[in-house]
Amino acid sequence: MQARRPLGSCAIILFFIIQTATGDTRCLRKGGKCQENSIPCDNYQKGLCNGGRTRQCCISNQVADKPCRDKGGKCQQTSVSCRGTYTSGLCGGSASRKCCVPQSGSASCSAAAAAVACKIKNSSKITLLKINPSQVKDGADPYSNIRDACARKVAKRSSYKCREGQAPGGSTCLDLKILQYIYDLGTSTKYQVQVNAIAGACHSNGSKHYDGKAVDFQLFGSGTAKDAQEKAFRDKCTKHKGWSHGGTHVHCQIV
Ligand SMILES: *[C@@H]1O[C@H](CO)[C@@H](O)[C@H](O)[C@H]1NC(C)=O
Ligand SMILES: *[C@@H]1O[C@H](CO)[C@@H](O)[C@H](O)[C@H]1NC(C)=O
Repeated sequence: MQARRPLGSCAIILFFIIQTATGDTRCLRKGGKCQENSIPCDNYQKGLCNGGRTRQCCISNQVADKPCRDKGGKCQQTSVSCRGTYTSGLCGGSASRKCCVPQSGSASCSAAAAAVACKIKNSSKITLLKINPSQVKDGADPYSNIRDACARKVAKRSSYKCREGQAPGGSTCLDLKILQYIYDLGTSTKYQVQVNAIAGACHSNGSKHYDGKAVDFQLFGSGTAKDAQEKAFRDKCTKHKGWSHGGTHVHCQIV
């Protein structure tokens, strides 16, 4: 896409005054609509429409942002932090509106977190589910999360609804503190350790899971055995300065 210029820049308008014989088709082909530039529109492009110099091609951000979406990114103001990198020229709107692409191909999360994730991945004492507990398989399961974190990549979040809320999709770096807890617990406890969810699966809206700062563990057995496992996992969470709850599983979050 061409760089956008401020409206009312006479020199630029004169430069584009040459009308094309093809009429409005150049604008239409770009997914735009020719109209008077006094009508509000996300982006005007000059030189794509028949008629006077004020008749210009209006391209909505929905259309202009497609190159960014195609790259798996999201267009936003660069004042908003981006877990990944900002790329110019893929979004509509002002020059400060850029494409935030989460880095899946290259390192973007902390090396310290990655090192612990690799140790978790490598540990025979820690079982990482390869599917969400809801049986949805979307690449946001604990095994995929840890594999990606080990490669310094962002971990995927799910994007489906459940009784508790709506998982937001997208991705996040896993936090060093929660990874240290998982590793420490997994390599020190006498109980069976199965990770059910980290950044993936569906939880209540705004859950710390979605920030890569929470984990859910499976509880095994029943009665006193289950209670003892629950207590051990929760005590370890407290030791790591986290907050936890038990019940059907142990949830620990460290913020
Ligand atoms: C992975 O585990 C094996 C033994 O199970 C160990 O020899 C190796 O050093 C570990 N690698 C890492 C990166 O922790
Ligand atoms: C969770 O957020 C979604 C929008 O993302 C909303 O539709 C839903 O009602 C929310 N659920 C709860 C339980 O607050």
